[in-house]
Amino acid sequence: MTSPMKNYRIAPSILSADFAKLGEEVNAVIAAGADIVHFDVMDNHYVPNLTIGPLVCEAVRRITKAPIDVHLMVKPVDRIIPDFAKAGANIISFHPEASEHIDRTIGLIKEHGCKAGLVFNPATPLNYLDHVIDKLDLVLIMSVNPGFGGQSFIPEALNKLRLARQRIDASGRDIWLEIDGGVKVDNIAEIAAAGADTFVAGSAIYGKPDYKAVIDSMRSELAKVGKISC
Ligand code: DX5
Ligand code: ZN
Repeated sequence: MTSPMKNYRIAPSILSADFAKLGEEVNAVIAAGADIVHFDVMDNHYVPNLTIGPLVCEAVRRITKAPIDVHLMVKPVDRIIPDFAKAGANIISFHPEASEHIDRTIGLIKEHGCKAGLVFNPATPLNYLDHVIDKLDLVLIMSVNPGFGGQSFIPEALNKLRLARQRIDASGRDIWLEIDGGVKVDNIAEIAAAGADTFVAGSAIYGKPDYKAVIDSMRSELAKVGKISC
């Protein structure tokens, strides 16, 4: 008997898109079967790179109905949260190291009508979940050090995913478990078997000429996951 396929979500990171035609790129990945727009915000302070802000979020909001998943790699973080909420973000995630008051930042995101996520760098312990998991909608495990697309997947992230999955299941809440960095067709099944249900992929999708072919391949890998032991 085959178990029903889990609800897996594919979230292309627009960091690897062609910014000269960003609207077309977003529409193209959604038409190719992606579920979510992953929106990487970098400030050249918390991470050594500089990307896009609320103005671009607002522009993307106008051309898609797909959920926009804003990944804030900025410090400080609170000042900019209302701007992203007004710009149409659906989910806003931040790194605990970038906030002086993590519980307050989660509250701020929710007060502005968005879902809240907490992001874990490769060396950041999951203990930050201890007292706030009941307020979260998403846990994002970084499988690279944040700042750039196109890096290699750090295998220890699989152990962390298993531990995060246990914590989420124990909470009994509907919390998405997202993975970000180095996700490809050839490792997505193993990542899903470790507990992830939401997959950010930048270079693996936008770096290829045929977005639908990549997303279809990812989905067929995910369809095998029940048969992989973790
Ligand atoms: C890294 C970003 C990622 C990145 C993923 O700091 O948060 O979302 O764009 O890119 P790939 O899939 O190429 O590793
Ligand atoms: Zn990201």
